[in-house]
Amino acid sequence: MYSGDAVFYDAFQSFCGIGADVELIRRLIPDSARDVCEIACGTGRILLSLRRPGLTLTGLDLSEDMLKVARKKDPSVRWLQADMQCLPDLGPFDFIICGYNSIQHVMENAGVRSFLRGARENLREGGLLYLDLYNPREWLKREEDPYAAEYTPGGRLSEPLDDDATMRFRVPPFLCGEQAIVLYESQWTDEANMIRHITYEYYEMDRDVYDRGDLRYLYTQKQHPEVERFLLAENYEMREFLPGEMEEMILDCGFQIEKRFGEYDGSDYARNSTKQIYLLRRAQQKA
Ligand SMILES: C[S@@+](CC[C@H](N)C(=O)[O-])C[C@H]1O[C@@H](n2cnc3c(N)ncnc32)[C@H](O)[C@@H]1O
Repeated sequence: MYSGDAVFYDAFQSFCGIGADVELIRRLIPDSARDVCEIACGTGRILLSLRRPGLTLTGLDLSEDMLKVARKKDPSVRWLQADMQCLPDLGPFDFIICGYNSIQHVMENAGVRSFLRGARENLREGGLLYLDLYNPREWLKREEDPYAAEYTPGGRLSEPLDDDATMRFRVPPFLCGEQAIVLYESQWTDEANMIRHITYEYYEMDRDVYDRGDLRYLYTQKQHPEVERFLLAENYEMREFLPGEMEEMILDCGFQIEKRFGEYDGSDYARNSTKQIYLLRRAQQKA
């Protein structure tokens, strides 16, 4: 996870047009903030776009390969390798970010609680935590179905809802430096545990085929071994969290919910929102 493919991460995100989250985060950081930390900072996509005079930045990630890309971009930032489920004492910070679904790589609720407590310990009194994850809309629909999910306090659904299904699709080629990269994404969903198992396979497409813009090879769902060479594959797991269970963990771990957005444009959360984006304040008293 986020190792061999770290070198493709930025090119892929900019190909997908990711970036609206940065604007929202910029608006949420108070002018008075001096110390900002991003947990699961990856290549520094978010953190480095927050640079401004007077702000000290710290980035933490589990993956050395992602941090290697980040360090190369700006060696003056404090970059640290650690697991967000057992955060060291790094602060205190005025603002902590855990952005772009990174918390969904933590599989167990115990790990999420441990992250929240660690983030709280690293915040100044009244400091803020920004937390961004997907809203599991399809599971919410099933909650409304009397024959479907029975939500248990452990945070798991009682029965598998569907047969596990694998789907595979092809992302059209994008440029990463001199290389034209084709990405195949396969997913299957462990319904009982609300975990998506994702595999990314990276291929390099002949550069002249890419440059010619041949639509037969660019925009197709078929694989073309004659012009694509396998580079590497990476496996990912992403846990889905129901808003109710996330809220319960947030309050239990000593935070107040200041705001809950449903999209990066800052609109309020609604049941059919794409996202759950929380702005949390370190509560005065530990719960
Ligand atoms: C979707 S990427 C987001 C990177 C960056 N925040 C961004 O928005 O571009 C998820 C990141 O979470 C990191 N990650 C996954 N599990 C982690 C853990 N237990 N502790 C710290 N970082 C973790 C990965 O290495 C990866 O860099």
